[in-house]
Amino acid sequence: MIRLEGIAKEYYMGDVAVRALDGIDLEIQRGEFVSIMGPSGSGKSTLLNILGVLDQPSRGAYYLEDVDITQLRDGELSKIRNRHFGFIFQAYNLFPELTALENVMVPLMYAGKPRRERRERAEELLAKVGMEHRLGHLPTQLSGGEQQRVAIARALANSPTLLLADEPTGNLATDQGNEIMGILQDLNRQGTTVVIVTHDPAISAFGKRLLRLRDGKIVSDELIQQIAQEA
Ligand SMILES: Nc1ncnc2c1ncn2[C@@H]1O[C@H](COP(=O)(O)OP(=O)(O)OP(=O)(O)O)[C@@H](O)[C@H]1O
Ligand SMILES: [Mg+2]
Repeated sequence: MIRLEGIAKEYYMGDVAVRALDGIDLEIQRGEFVSIMGPSGSGKSTLLNILGVLDQPSRGAYYLEDVDITQLRDGELSKIRNRHFGFIFQAYNLFPELTALENVMVPLMYAGKPRRERRERAEELLAKVGMEHRLGHLPTQLSGGEQQRVAIARALANSPTLLLADEPTGNLATDQGNEIMGILQDLNRQGTTVVIVTHDPAISAFGKRLLRLRDGKIVSDELIQQIAQEA
């Protein structure tokens, strides 16, 4: 599904280049569940943002279904982003003035779905993450774990083929974090490709493949024994 070849990323601070990624070669197949670990500053978020086309590499090629998308224009890239990718962040990033239901309806509105369909689909997605009983709650009226479940429902609104999550459990207690990972594992079993960044080895073990980054390079890439999902 995805192939990165020789991806490098430098950020410029005035004249000084900060090398965030340095020669990344990576293939991700449909249906994988990849965990990315590595020390702070090793380039994990940069890699995730490039995978999700939120950021452009300085060099290298990014093939999505065999098309090199580094050659495309911004408008085409945002179409790809909306059609293929769902994002989950550590800080949930919900709209504070909108209810759980309205938050999930937002991407459906951008996708031009009629109001009634938006509502039905948003309800269905919230049920999928166990939030059908909190439709009318504002983010401040939800626990951290509940907010992240709403954020996952929102990320799923446009049926992404790839779900990207940067420290999705970073602000959560262990129990809540495990619940969130159980949901991602379920989604992966139903066919969604998942890539997560985490500091926590216990969280990375929910994946089927573990990449380790150091100084902007992939230093190991191995299949792992996925931990059993709780019933
Ligand atoms: N916008 C930016 N401008 C300049 N330098 C940046 C920018 N974003 C990241 N960097 C630098 O690039 C390197 C990689 O950053 P990145 O955020 O990818 O690390 P990370 O592995 O996600 O770290 P953490 O675990 O702390 O989140 C770091 O040295 C960082 O300081
Ligand atoms: Mg990061």
